[in-house]
Amino acid sequence: MRSSAMRDLMEITARPDVISLAGGLPDTSTFPPESFAARMTRIAYESTAEALQYGPTEGFTETKECILEVMAAEGMHPDIDDVTVTTGGQQAIDLIAKTLVDPGDPVICEAPTYPGAVPVFSSYQAEVHQIEMDEDGMRIDLLEEQLEQLAAEGRRPKFIYAIPNFQNPAGVTLSLERRRRLVEIAREQELLIVEDNPYGLLRFEGDHLPSLYQLDGGDYVLYVGTFSKILSPGIRLGWCVAPPPVTEKIVLGKQASDLCTSSLTQYFAREWFAEEHWQDYVQEVTELYRGRRDAMLESLERSFPEHASWTVPAGGLFVWATLPKYINTTDLLAKALGQNVAFVPGEAAYLDGRGTTNMRLNFSGSAEDEIREGIRRIGSVITEQVELYETITGEHRLPPKDARSDGKADTDELETPAATILPLRKPR
Ligand SMILES: Cc1ncc(COP(=O)(O)O)c(C=O)c1O
Repeated sequence: MRSSAMRDLMEITARPDVISLAGGLPDTSTFPPESFAARMTRIAYESTAEALQYGPTEGFTETKECILEVMAAEGMHPDIDDVTVTTGGQQAIDLIAKTLVDPGDPVICEAPTYPGAVPVFSSYQAEVHQIEMDEDGMRIDLLEEQLEQLAAEGRRPKFIYAIPNFQNPAGVTLSLERRRRLVEIAREQELLIVEDNPYGLLRFEGDHLPSLYQLDGGDYVLYVGTFSKILSPGIRLGWCVAPPPVTEKIVLGKQASDLCTSSLTQYFAREWFAEEHWQDYVQEVTELYRGRRDAMLESLERSFPEHASWTVPAGGLFVWATLPKYINTTDLLAKALGQNVAFVPGEAAYLDGRGTTNMRLNFSGSAEDEIREGIRRIGSVITEQVELYETITGEHRLPPKDARSDGKADTDELETPAATILPLRKPR
């Protein structure tokens, strides 16, 4: 078993003096308290006994109806019997792995992948192959090479795990062309895809893209969703959609794990969907996060040194930054914590030790001024490392813009469209 670096960090980053850009936290302070009170009061008066009781392992029909509404908002219309309500999307990933993976089985995922999936794959002893991404998401050409290599050994992956929208941690989105090709490959080779889509509704700009589930029709794509980023992570409600034979096993696995998902929070979700315009709330948080993303991008530009690059996400919660090769972000984190600021080091998103020069930065959980201050502090610890390196090697580069007296920005190479990786700046 492996620890999720994120979970370890939670303890430190919960300290009030730390600006945490580490978690994947939605801003729950935006949730209207009077609405929460009204929903819970009504549950207390009308459904105390049921809400405090065990429920069916696969979840209440009313919860599944809310799930169908959320999926319909992204153009998906699964059969209600294919839906299992889970304790967060995290449990859905765990149950799928529990159902399908035997020790040593190959599983394919993106490089980097969701840090919370790393301990899941490790605990079922999957042999994980991570496929590089670029600004259009997973490189399907490399995926095909990997599949050929496995086939040459007489093996097939149990599934391909993908986060096509505003990927955690990289912030990039799988292009439509690649979505089509990925689904085509799955259908041709009869491979399962696990599509994890917590962020699809949190789009800041650009057109909605069809999900893999929608493109496939649900034959080869198992779908994982969650209420965490569109309502609340504290209610721990997620789901998976799978064809009946897989669902049957997932429900058996869930019985062994936790008998059922919380009845109380399922009642809360049901009330929220019945009484409120859930899409308005999603719209509200999306706009908030868009402003925070912009604040982060501006600060990165101002405070990060030359030869750092970062992604420009068109939605979701994360920016993924790449630093010069000689900086190890796990070591850097210790220094950053000394300045009361935290991020997730890139290694947490790999199973093979890669990611040492990367960091994941979250912009949804902090106010804009905290983001600016947090990035300024991280920028200053990076600059220290750069200067140390330059002193040792005798190399010299310009400091970040906010440390320069002319205050001029190097403009043109930083003008990039959404969801692309900023190119490394040319050495002067
Ligand atoms: C890609 C991805 N999958 C799954 C999850 C799990 O979320 P939850 O268990 O809160 O639904 C997260 C949470 O950040 C995530 O980013």
